[in-house]
Amino acid sequence: MKPRGKQVKNRGDGVSERRVFVTRPIAEPAIRRLAAAARVDLWDDEMPPPPAELRARARQADGVLSMVTDRFDAAMIRALPRLRVISNLAVGVDNIDLAAATRARIAVGHTPGILTETTADLAFGLLMAAARRIAEGDRYVRGGRWRTWGPKVMLGRDIHGATLGIIGWGAIGQAMARRAAGFGMRVVYVPTPHALRSARGRHSRSSTSAGLSTAEPMSLKRLLAESDFVSLHVPLVTATRHMIGEAELATMKRTAILINTARGAIVDPQALVGALRAGRLAGAGLDVTDPEPIGANDPLLQLPNVVVTPHVGSASHATRLRMAELAVDNLIDVFEGREPRYCANPAVRMR
Ligand code: DGY
Repeated sequence: MKPRGKQVKNRGDGVSERRVFVTRPIAEPAIRRLAAAARVDLWDDEMPPPPAELRARARQADGVLSMVTDRFDAAMIRALPRLRVISNLAVGVDNIDLAAATRARIAVGHTPGILTETTADLAFGLLMAAARRIAEGDRYVRGGRWRTWGPKVMLGRDIHGATLGIIGWGAIGQAMARRAAGFGMRVVYVPTPHALRSARGRHSRSSTSAGLSTAEPMSLKRLLAESDFVSLHVPLVTATRHMIGEAELATMKRTAILINTARGAIVDPQALVGALRAGRLAGAGLDVTDPEPIGANDPLLQLPNVVVTPHVGSASHATRLRMAELAVDNLIDVFEGREPRYCANPAVRMR
């Protein structure tokens, strides 16, 4: 791919020494504000910079405004001695080796809180789409197969009165529970383990908020066995990789539907295809897959009872603008000698 990039015009004096590499076009107002604080090298392409290009550009930068698709593993981080801050345009930071960044005294910023409701909207939308076969129904109509009203045509699963199991009781999991309360669902959840809480939990509402006080905590096994819908809201870390595999899927009801708006690798993809094909699971609504993007010939896409969207949980105009503004705030905080206001590695000793 031809390398793309553009220097964004700076405003103000005394900022030219600071350099920031922005790895994708983001909301203009945020870029303009950043350009007042630093020299901005913008990767002006819909596709991410290839790793070699990311390394070459980030090497010359004090800060990077990165996306979930930009991988900062330990080797990459070692190659960036000048870098002081990585500001991820995401709440999740599984694309960054946090321990390596902390050792290299690089602060890692992220964007929790502001995308909670938007992501929960999509998660609930996928639940509805999978339960009521909305995408499948649309394909059916467009394919010319709608010949008449029929008492057995496109039967789906009721949402009202059903049990929703939420795995990961952080901000997005709780926002999902509030939506479920409006639909008269019973909500059960697996509490977020303490070790996973610090990165995401700051924005959780108190459990007395509407719809949360009646939610019941329980073990993962019991939740899987009792839920009609299971929705995943944990970050991807070693402990959650493939946490939903063959055994967990076998514990779920045959009529259940799995929703994943967190990270694809939380679910073992082969086990999921196996369960769906064998009719051991009724359906899935996935905004995230493993790998991403999912290949056009992936077996999951051959299954009519799977709804897939292209990792767009936070993709509303307003939320992506707020995320860009917050990612810029995190960078400016570091340039002004403060820890990023949303820091994913608070143990860091900043340079
Ligand atoms: C996140 O914020 O982690 C999303 O996956 C990207 O919007």
